[in-house]
This record gives sequence, C-alpha cells and structure tokens, in this order.
Amino acid sequence: MRIAVVQTNPVFGQVGSNVREAVSLMEGANADLFVLPELFNTGYNFVNKEEVEHLSESVTGETFRAISGLAKRKSCYIVYGFVEKADRLYNSAALAGPGGLIGLYRKIHLYYRENLFFAAGNMGFPVFDLPLGKIGMMICFHRMYPESARTLALQGVDLIAHPSNLVMPYCPDAMVTRCLENRVFAATANRIGRENRGGTDLTYIGKSEIVSPRGEILARMKEEETGVSCVEVDLAMAQNKRINEYNDLFLGRKTEQYRLS
Ligand code: ACM
Repeated sequence: MRIAVVQTNPVFGQVGSNVREAVSLMEGANADLFVLPELFNTGYNFVNKEEVEHLSESVTGETFRAISGLAKRKSCYIVYGFVEKADRLYNSAALAGPGGLIGLYRKIHLYYRENLFFAAGNMGFPVFDLPLGKIGMMICFHRMYPESARTLALQGVDLIAHPSNLVMPYCPDAMVTRCLENRVFAATANRIGRENRGGTDLTYIGKSEIVSPRGEILARMKEEETGVSCVEVDLAMAQNKRINEYNDLFLGRKTEQYRLS
C-alpha cells in the first residue's frame, strides 16, 4: 500500500483556501492513506479563545465534507487535524474513508498556549482496523510522551498517523525512536511557514516524514517545500516484534519491574 504525508502552508484563519490547497495537492497524488498536518485548515497560533471558537467545526462540518468527498472520489483514507466543536473545544484529528467518517482522536497532551484554549482529549487512543491495516492517531507533542505511541502499539497498530505542527528542531528525530521502540510505522505530517500573532512568533519546520518499524526514514520532506511525499510500504511488517531468537520486543517487557505512575 502507499502512504503519504501532505506538507502545507496554511494561512491563519483562511479555512476555505487552506482546505483547497490540501485537496489539490492530494488530487495530484496517488496513495491509499494521506496524513495532513495538525489544524491544517485553520492555522495554529491562536491569540484568544474567541478565535478558536470562531474557527471550530463539528466533526461533520465543512472541512469534513471537503475531505470526505475527496476520500470517496479517490477511494482512499485521510487523517487530518482541525478544531473540533463538541461539548468543549478540542484539538482533534479525524479519519475519513471512502464511506465517510471512521474515527476521531482528541489531543491529550496539549502544548504551550494550547492549554489556554483547548480541553484535553478524553477518548484515549482509539485504534481503527482498516482493510489496509490497523491505524491509530496521535498529535504533534505526543512524541514527547512515549506512553502515547506505546499505548497504540500495544493495541496492535501497524501505523501511527501523526498530524503535527512541529516547531522544535529535534522533533522529526524523536519519531525515529518512537518507531524503533515499538516497531511500528509512523507518518508525521507537518506544515511550513511562520505565524507571528499576538506576541507569539512560531516558525514551523516542515520535514514531514514516514518512518519504518526499523527506524528507517523512508521519506523526509524539506523545511520549506509544500507537497506530497508517498512511499510504498508493507504494513504487516509492523506485526513482527521479534528482534532475534531470544528477544521479542513486547513479550520481553517486564511490567512488574516498571514504575510508570
Ligand atoms: C505541538 O504540539 N503543536 C508542538
């Protein structure tokens, strides 16, 4: 199967044109699963909660309609980040497929000023069993919490779809470790550009990437380009946790020795 990361350059608040940019990039590419950045439709650097509220959408809102229309036309799956308006406001990722909405993930580990605007996710780390393989989602800052990727891997995911708005230089390398220690694929989709708003100046570092269960960087985009990067993978490879005849990564865990809470 072919998986793809889509690297975009959203303009803050311009939902219609940001969605059109992403849709046109995907129209011109051939993949079974596309992963888009965190908050790809709105931009990231909110100044106040009123802006977040104003740019929020229900999970079946206008962004979903555009993305799921494309998933149907291309018969593919798409993971994308958006501001979800529900009982509260969440920094969420949705998974759309040819038949419509498949699932939702709400960001649990909020980063920096997100803590002022969003409620922390309350749905755990759901896993979706697609014809392509088992897929889970986590968003950006979760790379700093190995428990996130581990929770998904212990539920059997083959691939972690990782919509992101990376700002720190070491972020892409951190995902190599997450893949190695869990033997899973990861597709990290980041944005590019700069948002200097309300006294907070953020530059996004691009470098969207696809990493294999062996920690190989199968694709890594440049810091300043937009586009789609696709690779052909055998997702089933992630099911094999055996390192050698004596070590199985998961069977070898010594849970009784760990102190994780
Ligand atoms: C981040 O979690 N957007 C850095």
